[in-house]
Amino acid sequence: MTKKWGTVWITGASSGIGYSLASKLLTEGNIVIATARDISKLKSLQSKFQNALFCYKLDVSNESDVQQFCALLYERFTCIDTMILNAGICEYIEWPNLDLQAMHRNMSTNFWGVVNCIAYGLNLLRNSKQPYIVAISSAAHIVGLPRAEGYGASKAALHYFLQTLQVELHKSNVKLSIVTPGFVKTELTAKNDFPMPLLVPLEKATTIILQGMSKRKPEIKFPILLILILNILSMIPDKLRNLLLSKTIRSK
Ligand SMILES: NC(=O)c1ccc[n+]([C@@H]2O[C@H](COP(=O)([O-])OP(=O)(O)OC[C@H]3O[C@@H](n4cnc5c(N)ncnc54)[C@H](OP(=O)(O)O)[C@@H]3O)[C@@H](O)[C@H]2O)c1
Repeated sequence: MTKKWGTVWITGASSGIGYSLASKLLTEGNIVIATARDISKLKSLQSKFQNALFCYKLDVSNESDVQQFCALLYERFTCIDTMILNAGICEYIEWPNLDLQAMHRNMSTNFWGVVNCIAYGLNLLRNSKQPYIVAISSAAHIVGLPRAEGYGASKAALHYFLQTLQVELHKSNVKLSIVTPGFVKTELTAKNDFPMPLLVPLEKATTIILQGMSKRKPEIKFPILLILILNILSMIPDKLRNLLLSKTIRSK
């Protein structure tokens, strides 16, 4: 067993991609600090990895909670090697009802959640020999998609923030990978009531993310065909894009 990633903090580790990454990293012998709002879902992992898994309740959208939690982490662990900022939600908008609460919830978790963790958690990496941040964006950031007014906007803001951070960190020893998945089969997508092209099984997504992490890739994007289609959509004339995307809106 290799301790490739050292001590790893994973947000949103109670389900989906976060849970899967946590299980894999624990199996490989790493120390995992798993956080989520509901950590009861981590019980089965905890009984299997008693000395390697540390679970804490944390709502990443709450700035003061994140600040306090990072202070506690520093006291207990002194050094974190890898932060996987994965916690996220997806709330769609049913136009013309521009649900402002849903807009705020998307932004608070997906954008502010990551910003909070980096603002208060970056210092935790300073004692690591190979400090590494991984943050989960989404292919939704590439082009404005129907119903994604809140989710897509939060991921576009996040993506911009992370790209800027990559430039800021360029001369430091802190590496940052942005993960840009298309559709992955998790609890988050289980509630989607529309066709999800090129849906990736969770196990496969986990393998792709870990392979990308091993190479410290600046961006880990998959599935490549969906990424390509969305990039093409973002480049074609605006009128044509709006026409094509409007055809995907279902009639009520
Ligand atoms: N699945 C996809 O197709 C897909 C595609 C692109 C990007 N992503 C991104 O990948 C990440 C993981 O998604 P997933 O599909 O694995 O979803 P998931 O199965 O719903 O898991 C989301 C995780 O985030 C946690 N979480 C949600 N709000 C939180 C908050 N305020 N504070 C702390 N933890 C919070 C949840 O735990 P609690 O509820 O217990 O807090 C859960 O552990 C998200 O950022 C998502 O946007 C997913």
